[in-house]
Amino acid sequence: MVIIKTSQQIEGIRKSSQLAAATLNHTASFIAPGISTEKLNQIAHQFIIDHGAIPAPLNYLGYPKSICTSVNNVVCHGIPSSTEILQEGDIINLDITTILNGYYGDTSATYPVGKISKEASLLIDRTKNSLKLAINSLKPNKNLNDCVGKVIEKYVKQFGYSPVKDLGGHGVGIEFHEDPFVFHFDYSYEKTILKPGMIFTIEPMINASTSWRINIDKKDGWTVRTIDGALSCQFEHTVLITPTGFEILTTEV
Ligand code: MF3
Ligand code: CO
Ligand code: CO
Repeated sequence: MVIIKTSQQIEGIRKSSQLAAATLNHTASFIAPGISTEKLNQIAHQFIIDHGAIPAPLNYLGYPKSICTSVNNVVCHGIPSSTEILQEGDIINLDITTILNGYYGDTSATYPVGKISKEASLLIDRTKNSLKLAINSLKPNKNLNDCVGKVIEKYVKQFGYSPVKDLGGHGVGIEFHEDPFVFHFDYSYEKTILKPGMIFTIEPMINASTSWRINIDKKDGWTVRTIDGALSCQFEHTVLITPTGFEILTTEV
């Protein structure tokens, strides 16, 4: 069941989403060759706590850190580590989810570390574009798949890229993960019709490969990697369906 949020809930989720966006921008400003992903975790954790909120990932289903840091061929859910040092040429996704006054906001973005390859840079630009295209198509009474899955798959396929299928976006706000599950590929069985007051994430994970397949790390149970070692990139926003279209909630104010 997809929840239609009340105006009071929307205001709470908007505030939390704005904090998540501010945390993302703050933390990203420290990205540089030589910094560890654990240091980025600490910077984000402190910023969230200082603003009276809680980092949602910490202890979520046993997850050990406050943010996810996913480098190069890591698709998502990378666990920050003091021994993982960023190097020039890497790309890194920071995924931030805050709980502020009980409300969740969820956002992520992928950044270059120093100077990166043309190939990596194009992947970042195109993944970001795919999210933008999907968001711009959101409108009440449209089918979710027509706005998100179809749009993203069609756009990235022309570059020989593949949207990951095993993971998706999700309703968010009252809980971390709510209905609907948001597919980033053309899923023709989708029944969800967009209505004002729906809040969900769109968070395409795009592999620079013709394979969408992934592996989950057997040791840590979290780290998701491309099966063929290809680069993967992700951007995420929390969006609200409005009477006339959409509002991106995860923008810093
Ligand atoms: N923030 C991720 C998402 O976009 C979820 C991370 S779950 C965690 O849905 F446990 F790994 F933090
Ligand atoms: Co999410
Ligand atoms: Co997220």
